[in-house]
Amino acid sequence: MEMDAVMEAARGERAYLVRLRRELHRRPELALREYETARVIERELDAFGIPHTRIGDTGVLGTLRGGRDGGIVALRADIDALPIREETGAAYQSETEGVMHACGHDAHTACLLGAAKLLSQRADALGGEVRFLFQPAEETGGGAGDFLRAGALDGVRRVFGLHVAPDLPLGTIGVKPGLNNAAVDHFRICVHGRAAHVSTPHLGADALYAACQIVSAIQGIVSRRTSPVEPIILGIGKLSAGTTYNAVAEYAEMEGTTRTVSQEARMEAREKIDAVSAHVAAVSGAEAQVVWTGICSALVNDPAACGESAALVRSLGLTATDQRPLSLGGDNFSEYLRQVPGCYAYLGTSNPALPNTLAGIHNGHFDLDEDALPQGAALYAAHALAWTGSKAL
Ligand code: NI
Repeated sequence: MEMDAVMEAARGERAYLVRLRRELHRRPELALREYETARVIERELDAFGIPHTRIGDTGVLGTLRGGRDGGIVALRADIDALPIREETGAAYQSETEGVMHACGHDAHTACLLGAAKLLSQRADALGGEVRFLFQPAEETGGGAGDFLRAGALDGVRRVFGLHVAPDLPLGTIGVKPGLNNAAVDHFRICVHGRAAHVSTPHLGADALYAACQIVSAIQGIVSRRTSPVEPIILGIGKLSAGTTYNAVAEYAEMEGTTRTVSQEARMEAREKIDAVSAHVAAVSGAEAQVVWTGICSALVNDPAACGESAALVRSLGLTATDQRPLSLGGDNFSEYLRQVPGCYAYLGTSNPALPNTLAGIHNGHFDLDEDALPQGAALYAAHALAWTGSKAL
């Protein structure tokens, strides 16, 4: 198969990709509110003659069938934006105050639509079926579950996705076998005490004091009760308690997140936080309940699929690297990888000549070198062609 031709065709779509990415960039939408974004995706798929269905309110699943029965491949792009104020000053800056595509999901969406365009023009060469998963709500941990429940991965033999990476230079693609990202959970600890005048603390149960003790005790779990050679974060980022300065607080509430790298550690962290909260609250005569929300599993790339991806990266004339630090940030592409072997790749987008491309994701200055867009589109298309056993272009 001529991967040079795929890259050349993708470069020919640069203007289309840039136009589309900028259209999406100007109109960012938060998780589960991606209505206009979904309509843009459907408009483009219609133009390519690719049938599609809605998944949930704002997810879009496109399906392209090739000439033979070479198996089914799924390609995923996330489509949501962040509640961050854009400060790039770019001509295509966000037109929605306080909302920004600060994680590059506009680029992912444009690249996957670019691949859909390239593949629709080569449907005869396509060896099997390609499913295009335009997934909402990655930032809040939603979206992926709806696609899985809808059967979007049923019968799929390989899944591929990518994320922009300002820590990698343009032209370099991060493809790392095994563990890439942590599992993420959210927790809320509700501490119920008993109100009293500040002069009679023995008549109350101080929820504020108990909450402070719980914050300290939870950090003690990390330092004393988990393996020092396995990364783990138990972070509390929000605490509120009490109603006035001269009363014993009746109620306190904390919110935090755990980052773990194995399913066992994930479950153990939950159990330990539950137990520590209950016991420490009891010492103060209070009660604590912990409410858990699972955000995503640890992201583990399949080694064989990664080997194939790295070879495809090189055949497109790009540089593959497996030298990437473990991120304790999460990405719910992990839920697809738990069902189907595949690869999540990182698309280098930085260029020292364009200062904003050196800013990190989730930053108001974040931008990317748009020369990465044809590369991303080519990567998606190449995986679809190779993994459906396409013979020629
Ligand atoms: Ni992201």
